[in-house]
Amino acid sequence: MPDFVAAIDQGTTSTRCMLFDHDGRERGKHQLEHEQIMPRPGWVEHNPIEIWERTSAVIQTVMGQKRLEATDLAALGITNQRETTVVWNPRTGRPYYNAIVWQDTRTDRIASALEREGKGDIIRQKAGLPPATYFSGGKIQWILENVEGVREAAQRGEAVFGTTDSWLLWNLTGGTRGGVHVTDVTNASRTMLMNLETLDWDDELLSFFGIPREMLPAIRPSSAPDPYGVTPDSGPFAGEVQLTGDLGDQQAAMVGQVCLKPGEAKNTYGTGNFLLLNTGTEPVRSQNGLLTTVCYQFGDAAPVYALEGSIAVTGSAVQWLRDQLGIISGAAQSESLARQVDDNGGVYFVPAFSGLFAPYWRSDARGAIVGLSRYNTNAHIARATLEAICYQSRDVADAMEKDSGVHIEVLKVDGGVTANELCMQIQADVLGVDVSRPVVAETTALGAAYAAGLATGFWSDPDDLRQNWQEDRRWSPTTTDEQRADGYAGWRKAVERTLGWVD
Ligand code: G3P
Repeated sequence: MPDFVAAIDQGTTSTRCMLFDHDGRERGKHQLEHEQIMPRPGWVEHNPIEIWERTSAVIQTVMGQKRLEATDLAALGITNQRETTVVWNPRTGRPYYNAIVWQDTRTDRIASALEREGKGDIIRQKAGLPPATYFSGGKIQWILENVEGVREAAQRGEAVFGTTDSWLLWNLTGGTRGGVHVTDVTNASRTMLMNLETLDWDDELLSFFGIPREMLPAIRPSSAPDPYGVTPDSGPFAGEVQLTGDLGDQQAAMVGQVCLKPGEAKNTYGTGNFLLLNTGTEPVRSQNGLLTTVCYQFGDAAPVYALEGSIAVTGSAVQWLRDQLGIISGAAQSESLARQVDDNGGVYFVPAFSGLFAPYWRSDARGAIVGLSRYNTNAHIARATLEAICYQSRDVADAMEKDSGVHIEVLKVDGGVTANELCMQIQADVLGVDVSRPVVAETTALGAAYAAGLATGFWSDPDDLRQNWQEDRRWSPTTTDEQRADGYAGWRKAVERTLGWVD
């Protein structure tokens, strides 16, 4: 039996390859960033070729560091930034356009037209999503309408769509020499094109965007005993590895956190925040601005659904302090700077750079820093940034409680920002519940490895995974109910100021 399962985590800012052993411990890792291309306000793109090259490079580095061969790997799982849209020519392997990233707002007219034409409720009902710039459907439509020749190429079968899992799966299984064109149910559930009940592309939804079905990948389970494909000798593994796991990064984090029972939830703190609650085998429709999404499907078992509160800008607001304002030199400094003050000094920062996602879904919002007086310093701005991460999480946690009736007693957290201890304390204070961080912080990659390894018998069942989960640190609330209510009222007032800023 091989000793390791490999996972590729293709994220918004970087791609990593990781190895895990049977205890779920990290046994190898390499990560490379890729360029963030921002040609106009609101536009965010990635170069798909760069992403594939970085993926090959991180695989080769990890395999080389550990002196491993393909036969040392029991399986390979992929997890990815969701919604980000690639359209490429399967004969040449060339993308027609840069990947349009989930944060990109160029499709706001497409989204508002859907609502105006009365199609919004049909999309909500069938796909579980509100019409928004966030999802892939409008991005594919934009490419079909704006990049010369793509619509004709699609009709000839020479333009296919995929999220970055699909793009990598196609390249990893041979590309122009027989690569497979597949995705999984979780990624497909982020397009506005898949029907949540049938788990198939829906003709009515496709017609709303003018997308030919032939462009779309086959939809497969997230953990596939019948593999999606096998890597060839000529690829970065230099041998055959079975590809048996594929799921969107937030769903992968649910699996990595072993939130496999209804009522279990986690919050991932990355460029954005994503709070998901396992709702079991029936989709729960949100009345409070959350998404209904597929959480995972293991083999031919019934799919499991989740309610999701997606927040566009959290960790990327800290990056903004570093890169655009220059008031910190690294993410860790956001903590030391914010610790110089005891409170926000009246300042609130609403980082609505891509409009506001859940639970507001307002693409007309833009960011604001409010409540400033001459007394305030950079330290208050840093503190307000950490608070914004936590208040946005409170917005979605409240919506989740209203939709599901489930009160989250302990919030499981993961992702880069959870290294910020002050931010985690603020989170416990703002929510009034305990916050718990696991030993393995890389839960996204771990979840992809679990999905892949469950398919090949490397892990036998979810109980096997549950034994691997261990708490590293827990934060408990230190504020009174009154302090909590006052702070949150200020946040809601600040959010009001950002709405309707653009037409
Ligand atoms: O829906 C977007 C999400 O999947 C991106 O996650 O961690 O790459 O920022 P991340």
